[in-house]
Amino acid sequence: MGIVLRGWGSALPEKIVTNADFASRLDTSDEWIVARTGIRERRFGGSTGTLAVEAGQRAIDQAGIDPATIDVVVLATTTPDQVMPATASYVQEQLGCGGGAMDVNAACSGFVYALVAGAGLCEVGAERVLVAGADVMSRITDQDDRGTAILFGDGAGAVVLERVEGPGKLLGWDLGSDGSLRHLLSCDAGGYTQMNGKEVFRQAVRVMVDSCSKTLARAGIAPADVTLLVPHQANTRIVSAACDRLGIPMDRTALVLERTGNTSAGSVPLALADAADNGRLADGDIVLLCGFGAGMTWASAVLQWGA
Ligand code: COA
Repeated sequence: MGIVLRGWGSALPEKIVTNADFASRLDTSDEWIVARTGIRERRFGGSTGTLAVEAGQRAIDQAGIDPATIDVVVLATTTPDQVMPATASYVQEQLGCGGGAMDVNAACSGFVYALVAGAGLCEVGAERVLVAGADVMSRITDQDDRGTAILFGDGAGAVVLERVEGPGKLLGWDLGSDGSLRHLLSCDAGGYTQMNGKEVFRQAVRVMVDSCSKTLARAGIAPADVTLLVPHQANTRIVSAACDRLGIPMDRTALVLERTGNTSAGSVPLALADAADNGRLADGDIVLLCGFGAGMTWASAVLQWGA
């Protein structure tokens, strides 16, 4: 058994927060933020549930399927709307999906974790799985802390996985975690995100390169054969440093962070949907997804595009 990706969708709240908005009340500037991160604006608003429902509805519509035929909703999020129930249960009810629902928390790596978990569910018998990533990072970021406020935004993306006979389109994957680094990026219950930016940056480049290399090696694919790298949208300089080491040119990456900031679990599916919507993917293309974040966790998966 294997999987194909049948539909995709994304969602962003309406409210745009620009770098100038931060510069008007914090000791920062548009120039500094763009030069250090590549981010120009981000969106604030909505809830994890509403954003995931909007993205999920688009993915279901595009797949042209009856939502009742979805056996499991797997929602990656670090910012669930409630401690319990899982936000996935709200998504399941709102979209009219059948079967089960669960949240997955692997921070910014969450969507790729959820994708691999969804593929595993198909392997053991699920026909269709809705895999979503959604976060409202503005809720857990201190908007007066210039070191973190400028980085994060809110957003969601989703895909429909469908089980097929044969090897399917997930060609390789790698999931990793090093809990000894969990102090680098964390948020206590009810608190705000704390981060050692410099060290997160360094580790992010390292794990992105290691994980992508492992995944490609397992799939027997050379970096030169990757049509599109869809990285976690944290910082253009992290992506560029990793691409240099991987031997993947920057023009073969999907980047939306200039407009979205870091939307945590929403980031990889947002960038994937953007690339697909803009005609950057054709049948047979090799797509490498990579997430990294708090934990530290990291995750990568290589797919062949097309149903
Ligand atoms: N505007 C202006 N100055 C800022 C600033 C801001 N928004 N944020 C920090 N600074 C200051 C610092 O206070 C520091 O000042 P000092 O030298 O007087 O102490 C100076 O800029 C340099 O800070 P530093 O942390 O060394 O900058 P940096 O080049 O490492 O860039 C980040 C900071 C946060 C942009 C960068 O470390 C980063 O992107 N790290 C990864 C973060 C990330 O992606 N997290 C999520 C992972 S999932």
